[in-house]
Amino acid sequence: MAQQKISFTRYLVEQQRADGLIPGQLRLLLEVVARACKSISQAVNKGALGGVLGSAESENVQGEVQKKLDIIANEVLIEANEWGGHLAAMASEEMDSIYVVPNRYPQGEYLLMFDPLDGSSNIDVNVSIGTIFSVLKKPDDTPGVQEADFLQAGTQQVAAGYCIYGPQTTLVLTVGNGVAMFTLDREQGSFVLTQEDIQIPADTKEFAINMSNMRHWDEPVKRYIDECLAGKEGPRGKDFNMRWIASMVADVHRILMRGGVFMYPWDKREPEKAGKLRLMYEANPMSWLVEQAGGAATNGKQRILDLKPTKLHERVSVMLGSRNEVERLTQYHAEKP
Ligand code: AHG
Ligand code: MN
Ligand code: MN
Ligand code: MN
Repeated sequence: MAQQKISFTRYLVEQQRADGLIPGQLRLLLEVVARACKSISQAVNKGALGGVLGSAESENVQGEVQKKLDIIANEVLIEANEWGGHLAAMASEEMDSIYVVPNRYPQGEYLLMFDPLDGSSNIDVNVSIGTIFSVLKKPDDTPGVQEADFLQAGTQQVAAGYCIYGPQTTLVLTVGNGVAMFTLDREQGSFVLTQEDIQIPADTKEFAINMSNMRHWDEPVKRYIDECLAGKEGPRGKDFNMRWIASMVADVHRILMRGGVFMYPWDKREPEKAGKLRLMYEANPMSWLVEQAGGAATNGKQRILDLKPTKLHERVSVMLGSRNEVERLTQYHAEKP
């Protein structure tokens, strides 16, 4: 008999039976997020035919010009999630402040954060983009819900993942029990489990960083990359390869599949900012996935998941991937005079 395919729904049900990591409300939440990603995937696939490409001309709280798809993906996620009774509130890269579930719907116990469309600069050039999400539990000692409820360290996440819209649409999830991958079967209309227990090799010969910012980097980052570039003849004694897709989802996906190190470090362009990427809905979910796959994630000085956020749109320096490379980067930062 042919082996039965495991759908996303079945995976969640079986995880719940096995170790109770996915209570009913969380399962509903994850199913709804997966459904929303399916509809974002549809919109992405239609491209110019669906009239979804190009700029919306508006600006978000990050000071970035929004693409039409940034706004569409944000709306899809809100509309899909607000009525189910599993959420208290949501927060997104594309919204200034938190979105509290309206009174007409029941309030749930979870908080959902998302980067609705990651890799906006790649939308119009038909390169892989994605959706990143992170789930927290609302602290139950406070009535109502406020921004402060979201300001929990990444270690408090109860689920995190992303969906990449590439040659295949793939959903990647952790609930703290390893990393699983589901590929969208368009004929069936459902996500099917295609890989479990993903492990990132501890060593690598591949790095990802935007090299055009080299002159702005801090000394330890420059040292690390200089040594990679020196190749076989340098202190590392091996040649390195470089990739930079400019969609964090796509760069992290590659690292989960074959190892590597991804960096978007703090640099001197905007010294007052901690980095470019956002802690709550980019760095935290990706760091947890990477750790769950045996890798590591740091801002150079501290484990990203231990950082206590002070604001919703907080930014952070990010270095993640193969464990030994991230340890080396941490060591170079510690040795900095
Ligand atoms: P977003 O599209 O959600 O704003 O995120 C873009 C991020 C990230 O996905 C990527 O790694 C990085 O910005 C690319 O930045 P550069 O264009 O500076 O290389
Ligand atoms: Mn953006
Ligand atoms: Mn992003
Ligand atoms: Mn985005």
